[in-house]
Amino acid sequence: MSETGASSAFEDAFHRAAERHERAWVFLAVAMLTLLLAGTMFIVVYAYEIVVRTDGFRRDPAALEAPEGSIVKTGPNAYTVTMVARLWRWSPSPLRIPKGATVTFRVTSADVLHGFAIQGTTVNVTAVPGITGSVTYTFNRPGTFNIICNEYCGLEHQGMLGRIVVAGDPA
Ligand code: CUA
Repeated sequence: MSETGASSAFEDAFHRAAERHERAWVFLAVAMLTLLLAGTMFIVVYAYEIVVRTDGFRRDPAALEAPEGSIVKTGPNAYTVTMVARLWRWSPSPLRIPKGATVTFRVTSADVLHGFAIQGTTVNVTAVPGITGSVTYTFNRPGTFNIICNEYCGLEHQGMLGRIVVAGDPA
């Protein structure tokens, strides 16, 4: 068995070419995955507004001083709403606000754990007795938004609905 110089040179060239192709395809695959990841994150954050501004949770025994919750105007079109969950309703509800209102919700519970989620938005805060969870959201679309409870809280959990009515432009 004898290996000629010509066939060995051919094999070297073949391996070099194969390696070049392999590197190119690995690079292409990694680039495509990176692009897919970046694109997905971009869409999730910007198109679906998945990221909302939360101000965290704090211990707040005074949150229940107004058991029916409260609405306080804090600016030209800004409000702070103390939203109280209890078996099995939300107050204040219906909450009426103008279009474009920026609302800081201070969410708490009068009894057990509830979940404060506003359908069609990304607002989602757990309502904890003795604790206030804050989230700020701007209602740029007029319409009626359902508040749904998304923590199982007993027999009527599935019926624990509230409403936020966002008025259209003033005439
Ligand atoms: Cu309240 Cu489920």
